Amino acid sequence: DWTPGAMVDELAAQVKETIGSDRAICALSGGVDSSVAAALVQKAIGDQLTCVFVDHGLLREGEAEQVEKDFVAATGVDLVVVDAKDRYLEALAGVSDPEEKRKIIGREFIRVFEQAARDIVADRGDEQHPVKWLVQGTLYPDVVESGGGTGAANIKSHHNVGGLPDDMQFKLVEPLRALFKDEVRKVGLELGVPEEIVWRQPFPGPGLGIRIVGSVDAERLDILRRADKIAREELTAAGLDRDIWQCPVVLLADVRSVGVQGDGRTYGHPIVLRPVSSEDAMTADWTRVPYDVLAKISGRITNEVSEVNRVVLDVTSKPPGTIEWE
Ligand code: XMP
Repeated sequence: DWTPGAMVDELAAQVKETIGSDRAICALSGGVDSSVAAALVQKAIGDQLTCVFVDHGLLREGEAEQVEKDFVAATGVDLVVVDAKDRYLEALAGVSDPEEKRKIIGREFIRVFEQAARDIVADRGDEQHPVKWLVQGTLYPDVVESGGGTGAANIKSHHNVGGLPDDMQFKLVEPLRALFKDEVRKVGLELGVPEEIVWRQPFPGPGLGIRIVGSVDAERLDILRRADKIAREELTAAGLDRDIWQCPVVLLADVRSVGVQGDGRTYGHPIVLRPVSSEDAMTADWTRVPYDVLAKISGRITNEVSEVNRVVLDVTSKPPGTIEWE
């Protein structure tokens, strides 16, 4: 019968048999699936695996550190961190169309990841043990949704990271292909992946880039990051993390409204809270977060983030609204 320990041993044995003495790479996003896949492959083949974390600067407060420190400490993976923050800011400058932003974020990811992969091949691969395998955190629902077969990985990776290049000469290894999310979480905990990662709510690949309505720049990212941190802290303190599917915090960067603070007029930006309840993100309802929790979040954001003078709650279900604003 199913125990996480037996599952880990069996999956690790399969990975070892598949990869043998070759080398593998894995793109870490900080999300549950890629983290658990990486931890499992690490257990199977140790330092034959190199993980690549592309820091695009669109993550929330503390997330890059979580990958760089906590995940590495817990799993011992060989990690290459690519600081691509400036490159992304440059590429995104002045762009406010949501799909255009997604395209740019995906394209830059491919370029940065490809370069990192080439460097790893040059640095760590030798002729006898070439870097042959690309680890992906594809789950069973991803396989089913896309009709099975090898196309599944492609669809999922497009969604997550904007797609990997066709001419990339890696074979895919997808150790979680037979598992559901709850099983992946159990396997992750068994492997020692930190709870904060295992229980993470979904977060889109393009990150805060699609939570700023308007163009993306360093200052706007900083405002959103501070507001988002407060919302997350208070939702966690209220014990709501596992009731809420996810809670996008959105900065309406091109909107300003008049407010008053002390005896002065303010002219600041609104922040939107978008807590949703869902089973699978295909449909969703807005979560009835208790008023006192909302009041606390609103009070803290308007007090602590001087650029924000209004906090609004999104009470739209999906459909007709999507979960994200972009
Ligand atoms: P929507 O906004 O379409 O979101 O209701 C459904 C789920 O998908 C996530 N999402 C994305 N994930 N890349 C991703 O990896 C994206 O471009 C993207 N857009 C939306 C969203 O956070 C929600 O969980």
